[in-house]
Amino acid sequence: MNSGSLQLTGLVHVSPTADQLYDDLAGLLVTSAMSAIEKRGAFHLALSGGSTPEPFYHRLVIDPRYRAMPWPDIHVWIVDERRVPHDDEQSNYRMIRESLVDHVPIRRRCVHPIHAASPDAADRYNGELQEHVADGRLDFVLLGMGADAHTASLFPGSPALREQSRWATVNEGEGVTPPDRVTMTYPLLNRARELAVLVTGASKRDTLRRVDEHVRAGAADAEQLPITGIDPDDGELTWFLDADAAG
Ligand code: 6PG
Repeated sequence: MNSGSLQLTGLVHVSPTADQLYDDLAGLLVTSAMSAIEKRGAFHLALSGGSTPEPFYHRLVIDPRYRAMPWPDIHVWIVDERRVPHDDEQSNYRMIRESLVDHVPIRRRCVHPIHAASPDAADRYNGELQEHVADGRLDFVLLGMGADAHTASLFPGSPALREQSRWATVNEGEGVTPPDRVTMTYPLLNRARELAVLVTGASKRDTLRRVDEHVRAGAADAEQLPITGIDPDDGELTWFLDADAAG
């Protein structure tokens, strides 16, 4: 593992290519899943949408090295969702289902989409999380980062950044890139046992530099740079960057 020269909250893992990065992340995911299942009997995995993780999900499906992934004991959760139907082009669940879930031996009842188009979507997701993850500790959360440094659907200046207790909430209004969203919140994300932020490509380099500068100066502000609000209480955060993103 290279530590890179960026100063970010958590560990920084830089791989020379995106392909290598997917392998490094997949290896960690398989090990974490096996260890969680041995200790606690299940692995609660929360996945992000967006374009970055899609090739990673494909890799998990097609590469024989990752067939060891213990899917029958894994629960898949969705980090955030646009308030659109599940067959909509913009639905994160649609992408995660088509690229991953439909191709692995996971139990249907262990897949937890956010029913984001329904009016009580956030309440339902809070209830479902409480039923299956009573202590609020997801085992592994895969996050991405937007060019404005948002993560999940926690956008700069948006109301969900200030949520103090609920695990999932609606995020809408000023600051939220349309359409409206339902998102996991800091109180849940920061209780996870492991978090990985996957960032690839030169287009994210400037954002990483901004985050790095703010962290170095001790001036990280989640209202402006929501990714800096990811700071686990008692878990491990690792940034997975390819060389194009890390610069
Ligand atoms: C989403 C996300 C979001 C994403 C970033 C990065 O639904 O869009 O969950 O937080 O991870 O916007 O998106 P890209 O990977 O498309 O750059």
